[in-house]
Amino acid sequence: MGDPSPSSGTGGIGETLIESDRLHSRVAELGAEISADYAERDLVMVGVLKGALIFMADLMRELTVPCEIDLMAVSSYGSATDSSGVVRILKDLDTSVNGRDVLIVEDIVDSGLTLQYLLRNLKARDPASIEVCALLTKPERRRVETPIRYVGFEIPDRFAIGYGLDHAQRHRNLDYVAALEQDR
Ligand code: IMP
Ligand code: MG
Repeated sequence: MGDPSPSSGTGGIGETLIESDRLHSRVAELGAEISADYAERDLVMVGVLKGALIFMADLMRELTVPCEIDLMAVSSYGSATDSSGVVRILKDLDTSVNGRDVLIVEDIVDSGLTLQYLLRNLKARDPASIEVCALLTKPERRRVETPIRYVGFEIPDRFAIGYGLDHAQRHRNLDYVAALEQDR
């Protein structure tokens, strides 16, 4: 793949992949589905920083069931667009998830390596249940299969930016999802 190198740096906003309206209505659908599934349970949404920030903020406001949130930060990328497969915890949870119903909230699942690591790590803390909600997935790029219970959209093999997703820390504030311009 023609991955932009971190030093080439000036990736602009390319074609729109998911418009704002579709994004918000899909987030509302996911919220309704999760609310139905988690009635009478002990939901803790674990957002993965920084990419899941905007998605989780919108998703939690669509829930009609009680939920707590906590945040983790992991690094798997630096500024490049390909996974190293090496995952490091930069910020761990503040709360214990032992015996609770954990829902990992991710921006995008690409190779699946980050999610595989997170699932292993959080399962070791003995939650009552653990599921995953990802706004985006790129099935063509998957290197390890990980179960994803709730998926917003499947996208083609393009580097996505906006709605929390960045390239070199830029473009997270777009209210829609676009492809990085220099990608292709
Ligand atoms: P994975 O380990 O390859 O599945 O990648 C996981 C992380 O890489 C995601 O949570 C994102 O933070 C980042 N990532 C993967 N693909 C993209 C993309 O297209 N745009 C922005 N970030 C991405
Ligand atoms: Mg992420």
